[in-house]
Parts: sequence; structure tokens; C-alpha cells
Amino acid sequence: MEFFLDTADVDEIREIAGWGILDGVTTNPSLIKKSGRDFKETVREIASICSGPISAEVTALDTYGMVEQGRELKAELPENVIIKIPCTPEGLTATKILTEDGIDTNVTLIFSASQALMAAKAGATYVSPFIGRIDDTGHDGMELIAEIMNTWANYNLESKVLAASIRHPTHVLQCMQLGAHTATMPAKIFRQLMKHPLTDRGLDSFMQDWAEVKKAGNA
Ligand code: G3P
Repeated sequence: MEFFLDTADVDEIREIAGWGILDGVTTNPSLIKKSGRDFKETVREIASICSGPISAEVTALDTYGMVEQGRELKAELPENVIIKIPCTPEGLTATKILTEDGIDTNVTLIFSASQALMAAKAGATYVSPFIGRIDDTGHDGMELIAEIMNTWANYNLESKVLAASIRHPTHVLQCMQLGAHTATMPAKIFRQLMKHPLTDRGLDSFMQDWAEVKKAGNA
């Protein structure tokens, strides 16, 4: 399973990339706004820290504008940048065209299995269902991941399912059980997934005992 960071904060990306298990990064206009930095400069820096796919989102709403922007971003930004496109009819057409150009895409803002299937049919490299935002409406976002993974099993689709809008570690654990190919999450969730009180307690105890070994002159 691929683990992506969902952030445009380069310090966080450096921290998690340092763990050696970061597979990619997703950004969106809101995350770029939060960074307070220039869009292309930030994506360039992110792409220099992480060699996996880095999603940069188009902001045009019409097909022509999305395709133009997608081609421009691919031409100006590093090789590992992929183009994030909203799941709209215009976005589907843009995905199809960019796919035919050989450009990898991530179709975002997916809230139903039918949207995911249509994005896959358009050739999306990744399809991104938003779990947390479905939970926010009082429904169960994980049910959508289950529906999508069942659909993928029925039709042997090539697009990777990228679970997004992840709000807590349990979302990731459930995605792992359902076979989602990728999860994108904030740095906080990476830290929570690695933390276990028994690991901390066990390490403390080993270190105390090792100090005794050294004191006894046996190390
Ligand atoms: O990459 C976009 C997605 O992960 C958004 O998450 O927390 O804003 O719903 P959130």
C-alpha cells in the first residue's frame, strides 16, 4: 500500500520523507493557500524532496483550460508531478485527453463509486474518494471505499484507488483491510500510525537495563 502525505508544508514533507517510507504527496488549492507560498515554487520543492508522484491540481473549470494548465504544469514542473483534476464531466474529458498525451492524473473530489468508475474509464492513474468529508455529512466514508474496491474486483480496473480526506488512523487501518492501493494523509496521522505506548515503554525498559549492563562493565 502506498502512503502519501496530504500537505504543501515542506518541513513536514522533509520530516516524513526522512522515515524512508513516503511514496508521494498530494496538494490542492486549499493546502497551497495554507502554505502561504508560490504554487509552482512549492510543488518544485516538494518534488525535489519526494521522488514519488506529486499531485498538482488544475484550477480551470472547463476542459480546454484544464488540459492547457495540465500540459503547462507538466512542461514546467519536475517529471514526478502528476495532474490533479476535479471529478466533473469537463474533468473526465480533460483526463482522457491528458492520458492520451501520456500524462498521469489524479481525479479528485470523488464521492460515489459511479464517479470513481467513470474516472477510471477516462484513464485516471489515481481516483481519489474523500472519506472524511462523507463522514462529515453523517454517512460512512469507509462504505464508499468498500464499494469502490468491490467494483475494482468485478472489473479488474487499472486506476489506483487513493483514499483521501483521511482524518484518523482507523481510516487508514480500514483502507488497508479493504485493499485500497494508496492513502493520502496529514503528517499527524503518519505520527499517530507509528506511535505505540508499548513500544515507548519497552524501549525505556531496554535502555534502563542497558545502562546497568554498561555500569557493570559488560558493554
Ligand atoms: O487531498 C484532499 C483531501 O485529502 C482533503 O482532505 O481533510 O480537507 O477533507 P480534507
